[in-house]
Amino acid sequence: MKIFIEKNYTDLSKRVADIIESEMKEKSNLVLGLATGSTPIGTYEELIKRHKEEGLDFSKITTFNLDEYLGIPHDHVNSYHYFMEENFFKSINIDNDKINIPNGNPENVEEYCKAYDEKIENQGGIDVQILGIGENGHIAFNEPDDKLYLGTHVTDLTESTIKANSRFFDSIDDVPKKAITMGLGSIMKSKKILLLASGKNKANTIKKLLKDGVVSTHNPASLLLLHPDVTIILDEEAAEEYMK
Ligand code: PGA
Repeated sequence: MKIFIEKNYTDLSKRVADIIESEMKEKSNLVLGLATGSTPIGTYEELIKRHKEEGLDFSKITTFNLDEYLGIPHDHVNSYHYFMEENFFKSINIDNDKINIPNGNPENVEEYCKAYDEKIENQGGIDVQILGIGENGHIAFNEPDDKLYLGTHVTDLTESTIKANSRFFDSIDDVPKKAITMGLGSIMKSKKILLLASGKNKANTIKKLLKDGVVSTHNPASLLLLHPDVTIILDEEAAEEYMK
């Protein structure tokens, strides 16, 4: 496991973009696992800048997103389809046919989830997976629980996640209560994992993850500690409690 502690969010974003850029240069048809949330936005901005200024080429890249709210239209401002389009895809030269985001309105959820995992496998698996971390240790929408699911599945969001995500909605009542998410098994199959955390509100989460020396389904991110190639990129605020 590698840990980078960067001075601030800008440097964190540049570090993550550096790693992705170097992987893209080694493999032009890289399979990238992408995340939504506030944390990766700076990374997407940095990659867009490198595309525009240095010609970083996304034309052969395939992407798989981690999750989507269930029952939300894809053109809804809070859907993860909309988020990805606005924050990343519309500003790079990615082939739309190579973008994969879980469908929040599938006809048959079970079949759809199975097909999503199969599609990842048929692409040879995810080469580099970007992850944020919830304050409660969740990864994608794999929430702390007695057990975690391996494959893509539908899940109930916890109160803490609904509360955290309500900042993007007009009212907390508008936050969807369910989501479709890749499972920990799908995520752990990624060849390389980049876990990002920024800001004081993640400081205790990071301390728990890196100092407890425990793996638990009640802290889903802790399972990543078993992965052979995980890099954790923090800014100083997120690293504060861990460094004490
Ligand atoms: P954030 O979300 O990047 O908006 O903090 C991370 C997460 O909940 O996984």
